[in-house]
Amino acid sequence: MDLLSKLHDRSAVVSVIGLGYAGLPLAMAFVDAGFRVLGVDVNPTRVSELNRGESPVEDVASQRLQDHVSAGRFRATGDYAELAHADTITISVPTPLGRGHLPDLSFIESAVDSLAPVLRREQLVVLESTTYPGTTEELIQPRLEAGGMRAGTDFYLGFAPERIDPGGTTSGDLTFKNVPKLVAGATPLCVERVAALYRAVVDTVVPVTSLKTAEMAKLVENAFRMVNVGFANEVALWCDQLGLDVWEVIDAAATKPFGFMPHYPGPGLGGHCIPVDPYYLVWKLKTLDYPARFIELAGEINRSMPAFVVSKIQAALERHGRPLRGSKVLVLGAAYKRDVADTRESPSLDVLSLLIEHGAGAQFHDPHVSSVSVVLSERALAHSEGSLAATRGPSSSSHKEAVKQMERVDLWPAAAEADCVVVCTDHTAYDWETLASRARLIVDARNALRHVSHPRAEIVKL
Ligand SMILES: NC(=O)c1ccc[n+]([C@@H]2O[C@H](COP(=O)([O-])OP(=O)(O)OC[C@H]3O[C@@H](n4cnc5c(N)ncnc54)[C@H](O)[C@@H]3O)[C@@H](O)[C@H]2O)c1
Repeated sequence: MDLLSKLHDRSAVVSVIGLGYAGLPLAMAFVDAGFRVLGVDVNPTRVSELNRGESPVEDVASQRLQDHVSAGRFRATGDYAELAHADTITISVPTPLGRGHLPDLSFIESAVDSLAPVLRREQLVVLESTTYPGTTEELIQPRLEAGGMRAGTDFYLGFAPERIDPGGTTSGDLTFKNVPKLVAGATPLCVERVAALYRAVVDTVVPVTSLKTAEMAKLVENAFRMVNVGFANEVALWCDQLGLDVWEVIDAAATKPFGFMPHYPGPGLGGHCIPVDPYYLVWKLKTLDYPARFIELAGEINRSMPAFVVSKIQAALERHGRPLRGSKVLVLGAAYKRDVADTRESPSLDVLSLLIEHGAGAQFHDPHVSSVSVVLSERALAHSEGSLAATRGPSSSSHKEAVKQMERVDLWPAAAEADCVVVCTDHTAYDWETLASRARLIVDARNALRHVSHPRAEIVKL
């Protein structure tokens, strides 16, 4: 039976390489659509926990995973050889930045190099990882064709960017199913098969004319968010200069029913995507000697926000007659966004690091995160108490840094004792009324306490 027929009657074996925040929900969506799904991951701990029905991702309930595992509809493995039995292979491995904000494609390269020896005729390979325009065609296709098979005739190759919104697409009106999916292929036959695969799991599939267009569209989506958040953060800095409440200003502007889309400021940008992916485009454009000015500027502003938050803390404490050095500061929220446990690139970690650098007694609480690794600069090192997990950087380097392991503290005793509480992440689990009644001074970088009517604490907004 050919691939299209197998996709149509759901007899195709679907596989996903990389079972993280993006790959696992996708794998579950394929199971829900009626396919047998094989998940491949190089992390043996992850493979075992998934096969035990324990989900590491908030958007996938363990019960749902357990049901699929016990029914034999989903299984995880670390063995690429098993992919010989798969009809489709979606790659969803990390695409982080290396030093100097350069793309780190090592995860994609490693996945493709492990896949290439087991690739067989009629299989469909789709990249979902976010990356620069040209990756699928210039990096993946030659590696998969090295054994002699050709994309579009012997096997099929496509790109279909992931649009998951962790903690977001499982609530409200947006679901995995109703968010349209962009698809592209190396040839028209490839596009047809990528579209057929995704039509099984999403309502609307949007084919585009080239792999590069789909890769670029994903980066434009992420750059749009990064630049607009950067603009909102810049507006917060302007409002601070002008003595205005940025939240009121943005909400006032948002009453215009056309031509304005509200974005809000915060302690900075975090997560694996928005602060990271646009630099893939910056790098690609640099190879063409062209600057990505909006991205560079927005990145600069967003990265300055943790220091701005710390300056607000410092000023607020000084008004209370206390220097930042030696003050107890409790950071609420270590995750980069509401209701997730993901601390990658989280600005909360930068706030913690800066607080330590200024000699404050920094602590954190997050209902979803029990410990964090905070990268300390050399200056922060001098003020760090306790043991350090590791030291980074060559011994000859003048920019040495170390990683400090911090454990979550108990919320209410710490909030009552703190000289200042800083709201970096507005998790819905937090009870803002109680916080405002127990803390003395709160710096609210998310406007989370906007509905609190009679706070005991002084509340300082961003
Ligand atoms: N997290 C998101 O919200 C999101 C949204 C849209 C797009 N994306 C993109 O999806 C991709 C994956 O991101 P993520 O957040 O799911 O990452 P993640 O770190 O949560 O998961 C990646 C998984 O891939 C595994 N892995 C790494 N190398 C592997 C290899 N060679 N073979 C098999 N498994 C391997 C890891 O062990 C891990 O379990 C990235 O390109 C990211 O930019 C992520």
